[in-house]
Amino acid sequence: MSRINIADTAEIVIKDKRFVLYLTEEKLQKRVRELGSQITNDYAGKAPVFIGILNGSFMFMADLIKNIGIDCEIDFMRLSSYGDAKISSGNVTMVKDISCDITGRDVIVVEDIVDTGLSVSYIEKLMKQHNTASVKIVSLLLKPDSIKYDVKIDYIGFSIPDKFVVGYGLDYAQKYRNLRSIYVLSENGVL
Ligand code: IMP
Ligand code: MG
Repeated sequence: MSRINIADTAEIVIKDKRFVLYLTEEKLQKRVRELGSQITNDYAGKAPVFIGILNGSFMFMADLIKNIGIDCEIDFMRLSSYGDAKISSGNVTMVKDISCDITGRDVIVVEDIVDTGLSVSYIEKLMKQHNTASVKIVSLLLKPDSIKYDVKIDYIGFSIPDKFVVGYGLDYAQKYRNLRSIYVLSENGVL
């Protein structure tokens, strides 16, 4: 196994693919701080429950709640993933449910990336089965050109082109979640 540079590096070669630096650790951290203070202000006087969608959101979730200045709780849910493919399989199942009671609570769902919107639309349906006070969605990344489902994302870190990205929790074949920055797949050397 070769060593990889987990901090900012200009490009990273993964199997036969070349990924180039897209969102630096510094840029990500700055935006996460902004989202944290925005949510802190919007939820003043409330105590929301953050529900992280595993696995991709774990790093964003950790950094986000470090920037939440009000009482809050966290829990996690896991949906079936893409497996090793880069294309969505088109169906979603829940692999792990939350364990806290969200009845009457203000829920903030934390996603890593919204691509087609399938996962978020599935989560919205699940949330409707609970008598929550409110449900909002925060996603670090959104690919507006890929959206196929009618979903509303309340807080967006970055809108990005329809390109495959890895790092900061996001994987390629389950790997490279540990990278501190986000890298984008470079096809034929062109972004
Ligand atoms: P959606 O259900 O099509 O919106 O896809 C959402 C999920 O697909 C995300 O939570 C990710 O796990 C995965 N995904 C979508 N695009 C990417 C990407 O560019 N890199 C890594 N994972 C992705
Ligand atoms: Mg995900």
